[in-house]
This record gives sequence, C-alpha cells and structure tokens, in this order.
Amino acid sequence: MARASNYRARPEAAGWQSRLAAAQLVWAAMARGEDLETAMGSSPAFRSLSGADRGFARAIASAALRAVGRIDWALGGMVQRPLADIEPPVLALLRVGAAQLWLMKVAEHAAVSATVEAAAHWDIARRGGGLINAVLRRAAREAEAFDGSPAEAVWPDWLAAKLKSALGVDRAQAMALLQLEEPTIDLTLRDADDASGWAEKLGGELLPNGTIRLGDGAGLVDLPGYAEGAWWVQDVAASLPVTLLGDVRGLAVADLCAAPGGKAMQLAARGARLSAVEMSAQRIERLRENATRTGLSMELVQADARTWRPPVLLDAVLLDAPCSALGVIRRHPEGVWRRDPKDFARYPTVQRALVDAAAEMLRRGGTLVYSVCTPSPEEGRDVVEAAIAGGAWKRLPFAAGEAPGFDHSLTPEGDLLTAPAASTADAPQTQCDVFFIARLERI
Ligand SMILES: C[S@@+](CC[C@H](N)C(=O)[O-])C[C@H]1O[C@@H](n2cnc3c(N)ncnc32)[C@H](O)[C@@H]1O
Repeated sequence: MARASNYRARPEAAGWQSRLAAAQLVWAAMARGEDLETAMGSSPAFRSLSGADRGFARAIASAALRAVGRIDWALGGMVQRPLADIEPPVLALLRVGAAQLWLMKVAEHAAVSATVEAAAHWDIARRGGGLINAVLRRAAREAEAFDGSPAEAVWPDWLAAKLKSALGVDRAQAMALLQLEEPTIDLTLRDADDASGWAEKLGGELLPNGTIRLGDGAGLVDLPGYAEGAWWVQDVAASLPVTLLGDVRGLAVADLCAAPGGKAMQLAARGARLSAVEMSAQRIERLRENATRTGLSMELVQADARTWRPPVLLDAVLLDAPCSALGVIRRHPEGVWRRDPKDFARYPTVQRALVDAAAEMLRRGGTLVYSVCTPSPEEGRDVVEAAIAGGAWKRLPFAAGEAPGFDHSLTPEGDLLTAPAASTADAPQTQCDVFFIARLERI
C-alpha cells in the first residue's frame, strides 16, 4: 500500500483552528479554483495562524489536495448522497478530516473532534457538523477505505485515461502514487567538480547524473551555497535536456524558452555563449534574478522566439517548449481539477512553429534539443516526427549512458520519456517529473 511517506504524524495535534484553516484552503482550491499558494493568502483562518499550527494546517491541506480524488472515491461509499450535493465548505471539512485519518495517521479523537469543532466556527459550514461527525467516525473505523481506492482516482477521469495511454498502466500508476508524496527537492550544482562534497555539506543524496536530492525544501535559502548561487532547485528530469545537448563549451547557443532559467543556468555554467530568449516580461525578470544570484553570464533577450533570429547562425538550440505541463502536476495537484483538456489543442501549433524557427537559427549540422514536461505524444513524439518529415532535421538518438540513471526511459526511437517507476528501491531518480526529450540535427 502506498502511503504518503513524508507526512509527519502529529497524533495530538492542536485544535480546531488548524483544521478550519486547512478546510478553507481546500475549499478555496476546489470550489473557487485557487491554487494553494493563493488560497494561503485569501483564507482568514490560515492567515491568523503562525508557527507549527500554520505548518500543520498547510500539511493537512496539501495531503487532502494531493489525494482528493481518492479521498472522494472512498468518502463516496460513506455518504448517502452524491458528494456534489454536499455544501462545498462541508465537503472541504470532510476531505480535511479524511486526510488526517487516512494519510497523516492523526488519532481519531483529535482528527474528528477538532474537525467537527472547526465546522462550528465557520458560518457557511455550521449546519454540516452532524454529517461531518457521522462520516468521519465511520472513516476512522474503515481505515482501509482509502487504500481500496484505485491509484489513478487521484486524477479526473480524462487525465487518468490520457496518462495511462501515454505512459502505460504501470508508469501511470507509479506517477499516481508519487503524487501522494510531497515532492523531494532536487538541486543542480553550478560547478559539477565536487558533487559528493556538496551532497555531504547539504545533507542530500547524490543521484547518478550529479543532481543532489534533499528530503524537503525547509530552510532552503539558509543552506550552504544558496547565497553565492552554487546551486539551484531543478528536478532531476528537468536537468537532462541540457545534459543531452552534450559539450557546449564555447558554442553559440540559444535557449528559446528560457525563464525561470534552470536550463539556461546549466548552459551558461557549462560554458556556452548563451542567448536566453523569453517572451514574458514578468518571467524574464525571474531569469535575471537567477542569473544574478548565480553570477552566470548570458545575454537576456525578451522576444517571441518564433520571430527572433540571432545575428549569426548558432551551433545549438535548446527548445524547452510551452506545453500542457501534465508531467509536473504533482507540484500543483489541485490545478488539474479545473483544467479543460480542450485547452491543450493549441500547444502543438506553437511547438511546431518554435521548431521551425529553430531550423532558421541553426547552422547545418547544428543540434536542437526539444523538450516538454508532458508525456502527451501530440506535444512530444508527434511534433518531432512532423519536423523530421518536413526535411530540415534528422534524429540524433540518445545512447545508453548519456542520461545517467535514465537508460530505462529511452524510447524505441531513441528519445527519452522520463517517468516515475513502480520500483524505486534502487533507482531514486525514477521519482521524477515526466519529460519528453528528443535531439535533432539540422540537415
Ligand atoms: C516550460 S517554460 C521554460 C522553463 C525553462 N526552460 C527553465 O528551465 O526554467 C516555457 C517558457 O517559454 C516561454 N514562452 C512561451 N512561448 C514563447 C515564445 N513564443 N517565445 C519565447 N518564449 C516563450 C514562457 O513564457 C515560459 O517562460
């Protein structure tokens, strides 16, 4: 059974205030479509908390939102009417109570009574106290109800179907289970020389590709090396596109979709003469801050990469294209419930236009690495196949060992599709975001 292993049990945890705050966060996310960060600013109950109570409220809300589809699946068998007919604030309290009982192992008396009491302090939920009490008592008795829910019920049906089709059942299931856990924090080093020394200094684990993995992000800015920009946060899979571009030292390179800059900083750190192109004025400021903190040198260009052209032809282009981002949903799991898959139809058009633009920027023999953080074939494989069919490109397949630790992610065509794996016992790097990566040569 998969449990959210990094929740800290707090059996006698504080009172109704943290449950009320957690329920307001869940309600704002699920009924009002706010993301968790925005909700933390808009909930009066959350804002009034401090210290451990605030952390606990956030942890409950996060656990509930990570698992909300499965919680609802299990609660559905305990309530006489459809969950959609329950007042949203009351439903939020039920979800918060269930998360404490089923995921965080909070003792029944603390979880149930404090959650019921929270209802009494929230005008729009007050009438639901009796229902909350009855359902949560049953939820405490039927502790196995959550474990009996299908792993992929963490997602809306359309998304579960899409991910199963793109990744296969096993990897989709591993991805669904990984979503229950707070993501670990991965760091990329500016200078790869002393990776094991840094891993020790930071108390992290060194992954085969040189990424350092930390248990959580607590106190990140106080860690050694932050102030002088010796590392930045970047999921292990997100670091691979630059690795797969090969040796870029001294080469003229453009990163066409550069902000907030994880990959641009990797390119600059590896000695590329880099133009970092980014369309969004707001996001390019984040890139500027990151480049300043790390002291890495790059030319920042605010432009639409579909029309921008470099003054001279380039040796290499990194195109980390805008996409549906379905491969990183574990970072904002609440977001998927308000997404409309029809919106994704626009991405392949933009992605193809960006690949065509890259063809005009590269010298013959120059290299393009194309990446998207989604497993959708329409945004990955199909874009690449269409580009090759257009006659300007040939595929440069990845060889075993080029992305250390990720040989199992090579596709039959020689692209890479990273994904969580069912067995992570001896392969921690398989706890990762989902990226599709391909490498093409300009012909
Ligand atoms: C997936 S994010 C890039 C992440 C970045 N490569 C990194 O590693 O931090 C895509 C970025 O492309 C930018 N973008 C989207 N369309 C663009 C275009 N036509 N030209 C330039 N940038 C674009 C978006 O504003 C967004 O910042």
